[in-house]
Amino acid sequence: MSTPKTPVASAGPTAEPADVLAEAFAAAYSVRPVPAAGPVDTTAICNTPAALEELDALWKAVVQETRTRGNDIHLPISLAFAERLCRAYPDADAELVRVATLLHDTGWAHVDESRIISEGFSGDWRKAAIRYEHEQQGCNVARRVLPGLGYSPDFVEHVCEIIDGHDTRPVARSLEDALMRDADRLWRFDRAGIALASSWFGMDPATYTERLATEIVPELITQAAVDMATADLNRSNALLKTGVIR
Ligand SMILES: [Fe+2]
Ligand SMILES: [Fe+2]
Repeated sequence: MSTPKTPVASAGPTAEPADVLAEAFAAAYSVRPVPAAGPVDTTAICNTPAALEELDALWKAVVQETRTRGNDIHLPISLAFAERLCRAYPDADAELVRVATLLHDTGWAHVDESRIISEGFSGDWRKAAIRYEHEQQGCNVARRVLPGLGYSPDFVEHVCEIIDGHDTRPVARSLEDALMRDADRLWRFDRAGIALASSWFGMDPATYTERLATEIVPELITQAAVDMATADLNRSNALLKTGVIR
């Protein structure tokens, strides 16, 4: 009688494949938050609006997409933060960060609007199906508008690699990816971000700013973003009197 071979434990179909790019980025930038190599501007973001006129044609191409989910507020403020972050991290491909940030949420305009608040901002919202859909639709927008504006196929695919997973993938895969993610979070600390996003999450401003401090600041990848967020949060809490109106 032969002895049955000991079965080898299988990782099973649910095991996550290794994210090689994310691991390489984590190894290359092991100090967290990532220290800034350039100047860090922590003044109010309205002091330094996104300034590059070369992006005006891209804005014009996605005006329709800015009319959903507050994108016409969220995207310009995020882009202004992205430009600041690129000055603080001069090793990043700034054009890639800028274009990915400008386009990252345009996909919201191409999903079922009635599900945006009901699914996208409640429960385990980072894993809601509609989150994946808005990322895919954002890639579709990028592939539709960028080639006609002279961007190369390689550049377009790099933009899509950042848009795809910007909310649903827990880790960044490159410095450019990290800066887009931080810019996407930083806008919330500005008073305009607090006004819009607190209503999406059904929270009063005091509760929302507490959540920013306890949940969003620890998610920031770069030290420059932490410094900007902290300064903005102090200003916004004072301005909105969240210590009193609670
Ligand atoms: Fe998003
Ligand atoms: Fe966003």
